[in-house]
Amino acid sequence: MGSLVVTDRKGLTREVEAVEGWRIMEILREHGLGIEGTCGGACSCATCHVIIADDWAGRLPPPRDDEIDMLDTVPGLYDGSRLACQLIWDEDMDGLRLTIGQQS
Ligand code: FES
Repeated sequence: MGSLVVTDRKGLTREVEAVEGWRIMEILREHGLGIEGTCGGACSCATCHVIIADDWAGRLPPPRDDEIDMLDTVPGLYDGSRLACQLIWDEDMDGLRLTIGQQS
């Protein structure tokens, strides 16, 4: 087990327990942090937009082309923008800090 440090849309930051092998979108949804994940992780809705903290962004696997294409539909992109459904949590991500993206 490990954890994520999440800032929600109200600006509240909390540490939540992560689960090895789960999509980060699923972890955030399980903790009721207001992420929709409408397409269930099929990379076709962008409702799982998160912003990865600067010091973590380069430590994650790079986005695939389909994630980049879907991110292009998100208003208000940041350098650390990712789709949480495309990130599978493992112990190397323990302590990962992210912010939930604003709803469009
Ligand atoms: S849950 Fe739809 S793109 Fe991530």
